[in-house]
Amino acid sequence: MLNIAVFASGRGSNFEALYRAIIDQHILAKIVVVISNNSASGALTLAQSFGIPAYHLSQRQFQDPKMYQQKTLETLRAFGTNFIVLAGYMKKLDSEIIREFPNRIINIHPALLPKYGGKGMFGMNVHSAVINAGERESGATVHFVNEAYDEGNIIAQQTVPVDANDTPETLAAKVLQVEHRLLPSIVKIFSEQSAK
Ligand code: GRF
Repeated sequence: MLNIAVFASGRGSNFEALYRAIIDQHILAKIVVVISNNSASGALTLAQSFGIPAYHLSQRQFQDPKMYQQKTLETLRAFGTNFIVLAGYMKKLDSEIIREFPNRIINIHPALLPKYGGKGMFGMNVHSAVINAGERESGATVHFVNEAYDEGNIIAQQTVPVDANDTPETLAAKVLQVEHRLLPSIVKIFSEQSAK
């Protein structure tokens, strides 16, 4: 059984898509906790409405980074976490957390990595860069998380066409639809592997 901790900073639509897919598709996984560095994250409100423990944990609540990292690790352990999904998490995970979950942390990125990744490449910045570069296609990437931004091994990608009249907003909406299917499909594969 995958005991998943979801980290999210924003509205939480990928978290919601994953939550619903787990139920609808009978995926052998459970989202045991949701953690956000943003107290106003929609993911926290959604988690509460689904009855999932939700925590706002941010560096600002702690005097030193070690305490913050320890609290995060304690929270993950307290819920028996054995898999982590970053679903729009805008903060780099501490290396101690990454080392505790080797090849057990995945992220969803709204472009076809290795292009359009790295520092500053989030949200509309990504889609603007894709359009400005004249790309004919974009898409979503699920990849392992390592200690560098967006550089872990790619697990899966799905493309969408970039149309001549696409704006960053219309492209974001198309990519998001793909994200909402791709992320659960990968979690399903991991859940099947862990059931063996
Ligand atoms: C998604 O586009 C995801 O790929 C990126 O951040 C966005 C999060 O959206 N990493 P949401 O909070 O899941 O709605």
